[in-house]
Amino acid sequence: MKKLFLIPSMILCVITAYAGNPDSVFVKGYATGKNDNKNGLHIAYSFDGNNWTSIGNEFSFLRSDYGRWGSSKKMFDPVLIKLNDKWACYFFTEAEHKVVGVTYSEDLVLWKPQDYFSYEEVKAKYTAVFKAFVMGTHSYKVPWSFAQSLIDHTELQTYKNAQSDVTAKSFAEKNPGLKPVNVSLSVNMNAKKQISNNLIGVFFEDLNYAADGGLYAELVQNRDFEYSPKDRKEWNSSSQWKSSKGLVKIDSIAPVNKNNPHYATIENGEVLVNNGFDGIAVAAGEKYTISLFARSANKSSLSVVLTDSNGNKLSNEIMLAVNTNNWKQYAAVFTANSSFKYARLSVTAKKYATAVDLVSLFPAKTFKNRKNGLRNDLAQAIADIKPRFMRFPGGCLAHGNGLDNIYRWKNSIGKLEERKPDFNLWGYHQTMGLGYYEYFQFCEDIGAEPLPVLAAGVPCQNSSHNQHTGIAGQQGGIPLNEMDSYIQDILDLVEWANGDKTTTWGKVRAAAGHPQPFNLKYIGIGNEDLISEVFKERFAMIYKAIKTKYPAITVIGTVGPFYEGSDYSFGWDFASSLGVPMVDEHYYVPPGWMIDNQDFYDKYDRQKPKVYLGEYAAHVKGRPNNMETALTEALYLCNVERNGDVVSMTSYAPLLAKEGRTQWNPDMIYFNNSEIKPTTGYEVQKMFGNNSGDEYIESTVSIDNNNTDVQQRIARSVVRDTKTGELFIKLVNLLPVAATIDFKNIVFSDYTTARTILQGNPDDKNVKAVTTQNDVQSNQLVLPAYSFTVLQMKHP
Ligand code: AHR
Repeated sequence: MKKLFLIPSMILCVITAYAGNPDSVFVKGYATGKNDNKNGLHIAYSFDGNNWTSIGNEFSFLRSDYGRWGSSKKMFDPVLIKLNDKWACYFFTEAEHKVVGVTYSEDLVLWKPQDYFSYEEVKAKYTAVFKAFVMGTHSYKVPWSFAQSLIDHTELQTYKNAQSDVTAKSFAEKNPGLKPVNVSLSVNMNAKKQISNNLIGVFFEDLNYAADGGLYAELVQNRDFEYSPKDRKEWNSSSQWKSSKGLVKIDSIAPVNKNNPHYATIENGEVLVNNGFDGIAVAAGEKYTISLFARSANKSSLSVVLTDSNGNKLSNEIMLAVNTNNWKQYAAVFTANSSFKYARLSVTAKKYATAVDLVSLFPAKTFKNRKNGLRNDLAQAIADIKPRFMRFPGGCLAHGNGLDNIYRWKNSIGKLEERKPDFNLWGYHQTMGLGYYEYFQFCEDIGAEPLPVLAAGVPCQNSSHNQHTGIAGQQGGIPLNEMDSYIQDILDLVEWANGDKTTTWGKVRAAAGHPQPFNLKYIGIGNEDLISEVFKERFAMIYKAIKTKYPAITVIGTVGPFYEGSDYSFGWDFASSLGVPMVDEHYYVPPGWMIDNQDFYDKYDRQKPKVYLGEYAAHVKGRPNNMETALTEALYLCNVERNGDVVSMTSYAPLLAKEGRTQWNPDMIYFNNSEIKPTTGYEVQKMFGNNSGDEYIESTVSIDNNNTDVQQRIARSVVRDTKTGELFIKLVNLLPVAATIDFKNIVFSDYTTARTILQGNPDDKNVKAVTTQNDVQSNQLVLPAYSFTVLQMKHP
């Protein structure tokens, strides 16, 4: 597939260009300050120490990993220092020269995870090196072959980037006269291998308002009056509420629960209004359940009603008699009398001042009618993929912005008033209403294995600050003397999920309404973490504890956010040395990369940990989810199926994104309060999820066009479900012309065949797959330009 044959000739050119060079050369590191100081370390060489040539035309050999994406990740005044057996790079992380980043490499290409120190610390601890550092730019003599290896590296990267940059448009422009192709496909039913039957899952992260305001069906925003400036600096307890008296009165003297310290007091005659999450969408005739906690020193009552912005009633008005000064929960059901996208909930105190908290409004119809349940349309769209598993609650959300923000599963279970809300590092608030119980219940409802991801004892490396050092961006870990208790929490999770109802945590699950175990099989530890010593020490402790107590649980480790580089390489080494059964790979890449790397997993060592491709997507400029990206993902997944013996699980980019509230693209399903908008990428996931097998059948193709760029835009995969005997043939045509497939040894009249096609132009969005029954009778099938076809074949 790959055209690496080009590389040796490029290298040869370079060698020829420097023929006659001396045996050694000077090298030095430097930065330019371009791109807001985010281009990192460049390296130059010189034969005489005076005239310097930049290697790879300002190629970035190393970038700062310090601080948050966007505002940080800057490098100032880097200095390369040669130590005995390796190189060090010291640099400043901001112009003020307060924090120093340090990292090491043997070859100046693969760098160890970065550490950060205050300038004062560096001065005190690293005297010899510090001297070299403060001396600033200086150079070292190295063998020419070393400089050559750096040049080769940049050449290879430039070549790979050019391959990745090829788009459907640029390919079509480069091949204007391309003729339709003919493909001969031979399926060898006797050559087969077992593959994972868990290949297609989903990744749910609470970002883009995926939980509160999204899948979680709660319609009231800031129902618990716990919004705070930690969520967003302009927010406080009364945010999203309006009072007819101007100011919403917030109290915290005797709350419903210590975990929910704030509540509102409504004066007699005062009206509190909540707009929901950008409006409350109600449908005529539908029922809605209002519930709230209230108390009043006198016998009071509350009137609750849905209205439009002019106060016109959209539902019946309900009176709740509040007859005690102790917190008590009240509930009633409304029926909406008309459909409206921007309804609001009004709560009025009649007679006396009344305190309220956890003011909640749910549609009566939730997914599977679960209490505290999920939005039906979104949940159903997820279920329709037939995902074999669901990873949750993140992503970055799982390990949080700083130690205090690590997602603690115990804070997310129990009665709603006992759950502990927290800020969401994506810039909003987590009520924890959609908590571990609801995630597990949802997984069970859709037949997916739950795959909770817990922090590896370290927060996100992009955290804004480190509690221990006070230095931003450093991946500080949970103090070692607190690790036992952190690990116990993880072991408790397994007991909560799998223990019988007599166990301490099994009893908690049973009390919540699920006496039967959830049968948890997988736990993810970590998310894209730096493979630092801090991480490794804590991960190993957690891994060993789970393995000892629950050997049947598959622990999934983490190998960084890219398909190569430091975290990928060191993460794989570390996981392999520990014997971790599976690792979680992530990569968001241009379509050209996927097309050019269809053999990525062919090269994987089958003896090493299995792969969970936990986050991936093809993305083009602007990151829309369109036919080009969807077809590329289909093409790549055909190759993943072929490697289903080493890739055990996959899940696409984040599942959900609310329109106007999206922090990350691409995502699989966009939505607003009343509509859902599954993407073309969703269609591909659904086609794979609904047509998967546990046996991969070998096939060969020959194409009547010798151009490898053409050939690699046709992909196929044949799998069989050994339980049902169904055969699934997947065919991708990413060419701008049709491809006629001639099936060599499949007799279509032996089968009943359903055909599902996704077809459109590369820029098209929202294309839907179409299924027809029994229209494939002959052994020839035309794949339209830019299409993905699945044949579902059954012996009658
Ligand atoms: O999917 C969005 C983010 O991308 C996830 O939080 C993180 O794991 C990845 O970098």
